[in-house]
Amino acid sequence: MLMLKETKEGKARILVPAAERIYDAEVFYNPVMALNRDISVLAVRILEANSVLDALSATGIRGIRYALETPSEEIWLNDISEKAFKLMIKNVEANFNLRPIHMEKSTIFEGEKRIIVTNKDANLIMAENFRHFDFVDLDPFGSPMEFLDSALRAVKRHGVLAVTATDTGVLCGAYRNACLRKYLAEPIRGELCHEAGLRILLGVVIRYAAKYDLGAEVLLAYYKDHYFRIFLKLKSGARKADHSIKQLGYLQQEKNGKFEYSRAFLPSKKESHGPLWLGPLKDQRFVEELCKLSRNAPLGDEKKTRKFLNILMEEFDTPFFYDTHALARRNGLKVGRVAKIIEILEGKGYRATRTHFSPTAIKTEAPFDVVLRALKAPTLI
Ligand SMILES: C[S@@+](CC[C@H](N)C(=O)[O-])C[C@H]1O[C@@H](n2cnc3c(N)ncnc32)[C@H](O)[C@@H]1O
Repeated sequence: MLMLKETKEGKARILVPAAERIYDAEVFYNPVMALNRDISVLAVRILEANSVLDALSATGIRGIRYALETPSEEIWLNDISEKAFKLMIKNVEANFNLRPIHMEKSTIFEGEKRIIVTNKDANLIMAENFRHFDFVDLDPFGSPMEFLDSALRAVKRHGVLAVTATDTGVLCGAYRNACLRKYLAEPIRGELCHEAGLRILLGVVIRYAAKYDLGAEVLLAYYKDHYFRIFLKLKSGARKADHSIKQLGYLQQEKNGKFEYSRAFLPSKKESHGPLWLGPLKDQRFVEELCKLSRNAPLGDEKKTRKFLNILMEEFDTPFFYDTHALARRNGLKVGRVAKIIEILEGKGYRATRTHFSPTAIKTEAPFDVVLRALKAPTLI
């Protein structure tokens, strides 16, 4: 029998496995992902998505929070595990006063909201509901690739697709062959690996979407706690897909840390990393709205979520960054204070900010030589 304990996150009270270590539990629950769920709930609120699919739901916490904390009226929770299915039903019953209709492999809760709990392969549930959902959430173990085609078919033509990838070792080049296989892209090692990994993930989703004549606008893409998360607003039409494809390209980096990137369908230089997305990682108004809503929302991890959203809001959105530690190491220099280097670059008229990818890094439009000179400035030493 599954040993359970109660936990609270946002407005939800959830029964979760009492196992000491998360990977020992028979149904998966990771409290560290509260920030991921907080941002997703705020996103669904902003997007006013009516029909939402939590395709890989485990305890049901994510879908239950969508149902409790957003105006969405039709919320689907699905998991292939029977134990998860039973727990999802228990958790819906604990949070809502809705009438259940039990069927084989699904239970429908009817009332003010409609909550549909199913026990199927996510690919099957998505195939059965072609272009049905305003918002599809893929939050798998590891890579989302096996669910991507079905998700792009299940989401409406102007809907939003949210994807988590926890296989950062693959996307960041620790397992190069796996990255080639799964993401059809050449990863990079070193200080740029996390941003490149995020952009490889975006790149492959955008290429998959293009097959269906769907373009995509990035509402938000970030890296946190060893996972990647993206929110893509789909745009219907071949031209929109062409436009998205034109924002793919390649990254090169020299030994001294200088990097270059260029938009192209095929790489033109040796030692190129990609293909990867070279467009924006956020829609500034969307992130500002997330920040604003987060001030009064019932979050699972208030402090962490608000702080992180603030960093995202302030971040200068340009491809890649200079990590002061890596740059100093690569060029035999002493490490300077990030705040001071930003001040120097701004003093010279360049935009420069911190980045969520690393506490020691700077995003800037300043050329490499200027950044290196700023790093060498005597005031820093
Ligand atoms: C990382 S957990 C989901 C966590 C959950 N979204 C949350 O926020 O707590 C991934 C879940 O996917 C389920 N799963 C794995 N393969 C599946 C498939 N093909 N179809 C449906 N569910 C699947 C697993 O049983 C597991 O519960």
